[in-house]
Amino acid sequence: LADLTVHLFGRTLDNPTVLASGILGVTKSSIILCAEHGAGAVTIKSITRLPRKGHPLPIACGFESGLLNAVGYSGPGYASALEEFAGVSEVSVPVIGSIVAENADEYAFLARQFIDKLRFWAYETPLSCPHTPGYGELAGHSSPDATYEIVKSLKRETDVPVIVKLSANVRGLGEVARAAEQAGADAICAVNTLGPGRSIDPFSGKTVLGYGSGGISGPALKPVAIRCVFEIFQSVKIPIIGTGGVSTALDAVEMLMAGATLVGIGTAVVTRGLKVFAEVTEGLRQFMTEQGYERVSDLTGLAHGD
Ligand SMILES: Cc1cc2nc3c(=O)[nH]c(=O)nc-3n(C[C@H](O)[C@H](O)[C@H](O)COP(=O)(O)O)c2cc1C
Repeated sequence: LADLTVHLFGRTLDNPTVLASGILGVTKSSIILCAEHGAGAVTIKSITRLPRKGHPLPIACGFESGLLNAVGYSGPGYASALEEFAGVSEVSVPVIGSIVAENADEYAFLARQFIDKLRFWAYETPLSCPHTPGYGELAGHSSPDATYEIVKSLKRETDVPVIVKLSANVRGLGEVARAAEQAGADAICAVNTLGPGRSIDPFSGKTVLGYGSGGISGPALKPVAIRCVFEIFQSVKIPIIGTGGVSTALDAVEMLMAGATLVGIGTAVVTRGLKVFAEVTEGLRQFMTEQGYERVSDLTGLAHGD
């Protein structure tokens, strides 16, 4: 039988699927639910220092090949999140924390007061959200220099492995990923949502999202995400969590062959339900058996040749 386990940061994952940030991971019980449905690892929704209301409703809408969202990092703030996620290190699968901040000092604060206190398996920093003023791309966090500075300050605060999350909007993605690696990042997650994009309701003649524009996720994002993971794989040696438009086992195969070690799944959890983790895993096992691959790690980076 094909071996789907992945060894990373001192733990063994049953399979390479990971719940992406912002989709269901808002409470401890919801991440346990994803674990019970077969996710190899789970990521919590990004936590800010102070409570945030986020963008006005509606915060998400569907289109033919994906979702448009402008949630705007709504959430309870780290103090409530500390209580919500207490005991998170005992969940049956590895849990990735996610923090988002307005500058390097605030990032360091959250790493120390939230990530280190709860001892997540690893944590993610989305340095590239395309649609929330003060954060990510709009705050200039996705340049190589800013990425280097933020990651350096994080590495001083905790020994929990840090995963830098990048978006396809970033120019010179390989260079930014390399800056993260040089500053001590332990992995890269690519990609965040793309855009922003906008949807208009033809009957009312009005823009659908409350914020106006939002990030694109789901199948429309997949070829872009594959290209980004491919590019980053050529620039760094640290592992990559390939995320963007994966909803079937063959999508996951593509992502692995582009260079991913783990495969993030977000929008497909909304469109296909929690069963998507088991479907992707079983489909992957069947594909590997039929095609003669023994270990899932044999697929990583295969599209790059020798
Ligand atoms: C409704 C929604 C909320 C999201 N919230 C976050 C978030 O809080 N932090 C983050 O890093 N990414 C967030 N994302 C981005 C996803 O984690 C993922 O990178 C992106 O959606 C691409 O993957 P997918 O096509 O599988 O959804 C969000 C995406 C959606 C659709």
